[in-house]
Formats: sequence, C-alpha cells, structure tokens
Amino acid sequence: MSASGVPPDGRPALETPAVELRGVRRSYGRGTGAVHALGGVDLALAAGTFTAVMGPSGSGKSTFLQCAAGLDRPDAGQVLLAGQVISSLGEDALTKLRRSRIGFVFQAFNLLPSLTVLQNVLLPQRLAGGRPDKARAHELLARVGLAEHASRRPGQLSGGQQQRVALARALITRPDVVFADEPTGALDTGSAHEVLGMLRGAVDNLGATVVMVTHDPVAASFADRAVFLAGGLLAGELHHPDPHAVSDRMLALATLPARSPVAASTAPSHARS
Ligand SMILES: Nc1ncnc2c1ncn2[C@@H]1O[C@H](COP(=O)(O)OP(=O)(O)OP(=O)(O)O)[C@@H](O)[C@H]1O
Ligand SMILES: [Mg+2]
Repeated sequence: MSASGVPPDGRPALETPAVELRGVRRSYGRGTGAVHALGGVDLALAAGTFTAVMGPSGSGKSTFLQCAAGLDRPDAGQVLLAGQVISSLGEDALTKLRRSRIGFVFQAFNLLPSLTVLQNVLLPQRLAGGRPDKARAHELLARVGLAEHASRRPGQLSGGQQQRVALARALITRPDVVFADEPTGALDTGSAHEVLGMLRGAVDNLGATVVMVTHDPVAASFADRAVFLAGGLLAGELHHPDPHAVSDRMLALATLPARSPVAASTAPSHARS
C-alpha cells in the first residue's frame, strides 16, 4: 500500500480496507414518493484490488459510487476511506480529500481542452496545492503509452487516448482509490480493452485500488471481484468474474420482478455466491 493509505492516526493500514460502506442508505424525495436508491449497503473493498460494480439500470450504482467517493452524502450509515470516516466531514474537508486522496475517471473523459496533456495530468496536484511532479506525470504518460503526446491538446487525441490521459491524471496524486464510472462506455472495443488493461496494470504494478461501475460483462472480467446491486441492495458477488458468469448473473437480476425496498431487503443472503 502507498504511504497515503496509512490513516492519519498512524495505525498500520495493512488490514484496513481502502473503502468501506457501513449501513449506507440514500433516498431521494420524501414520503410515499421516496426512492430508496441505496437501502443499507455494507461492503469493504481491499486495498490493491480492482472491483466492478454492476446491476440493472436504476439499481443504485451511480449513487453507490457518489457516496463512496464523497461526492454525495448518505442519509444514514458511514463511508470510510482507508479507515477514516469521511461521510461526516464538512464540505471543505471533503473537497480537499477528494482532490488529494481520490482519483476519478469519467465516461466522458472530462479533460480540459485548453490545457496540454501534461497539464491535464498535473491538474489534480495543482488543485490539491501540492508541487507538480512532472517526472511522475511523464512516467504515468509513458505507462499509458502516451509519452510522445505530452504537449498535445486533448482534442488532438482519440477517445481511447483521452481516457488513458484521464487515467494518468487519476493516478498522479497516488490516491487511496480510483473511482471509474463507465470508463469504457464511450469507447470502441479495442480502445476499451486498452483502457481496461491499463486499469488492471495500475492495480497490479502501481498498487492502485480501482472501483469501476460498468454494464459490460467483459469489462467486469478485468476486475478481481464483481459486486451486484439490485433495488439499492447488494445482490451477490463473483470473484475472478468471467464474462459468461457475469452475463448470467445480470440476466437473472434483470428478469427479477420490480422490487419494493421491503421485498428487496430479503435478497442478499440467498443471492450471494
Ligand atoms: N437526483 C435524483 N433524484 C431523484 N431520484 C434519483 C436521483 N438520482 C438517482 N435517483 C433514483 O435512484 C435510483 C438509483 O439511481 P442510480 O443513478 O444510482 O442508478 P444506476 O444503477 O446508476 O442506473 P444506470 O445504470 O441507469 O446509470 C433510481 O431509481 C433513480 O431514478
Ligand atoms: Mg448510473
């Protein structure tokens, strides 16, 4: 684990999950119209692992990611990052934490078009108030196969190349965890494979922790573990997921009758693998 994975109180971080959710609930709206996007999720994700979060549309994947990444606050329960409770932090502290300890990769790349590739990669360090580490930025660009493109603008790159820049940017601060929401959703199959291989490489070679929301069983098969959400609750998981097993599981979840939060609350124990 990187030094940044050690909690501020100095406890050994060896057994501490990179991300942990304890009884996390998040609803939208009130009363009879309320939607229980997350109905009480308990999940721990080990440091140095790659997790895919899957589930039917509306199952709560994005809500999960937003709560886990400190972009949204649960109504109840706790979110811990490397052992530190972040769900009760104030807005300023959360913003600081997101900038220095969390990396993001979005479906739409979200690079700044007026900056060069190198400047985009260095941006999180600048925002976090740290010294821009150009040597690390160049090393990360080399790792994602873009050593020659550092002075280009994002608009001069293909979609797959832009997402590889976004990955280098997500890794620059040595974050405790990288969250990726459908990172291959806008890419052709070949570029998607390259990006997924590089996410895998970040975990295997740099010790990164990656949590990726995806609809794609092949993308999920790059992960160590696939966890499934249905109706805002955990609905099983697969270790070393292969695309066929993931497809079968997704199909089973998609064909379940629409569940009320009460009915859904009985699901995880017997659905777990
Ligand atoms: N801002 C919001 N206001 C009201 N309801 C919301 C809001 N965001 C999400 N929801 C509802 O919460 C539930 C979970 O939504 P979420 O976006 O987390 O699902 P998802 O699994 O990411 O779906 P998709 O695969 O379509 O992206 C859905 O019923 C959704 O309609
Ligand atoms: Mg979503």
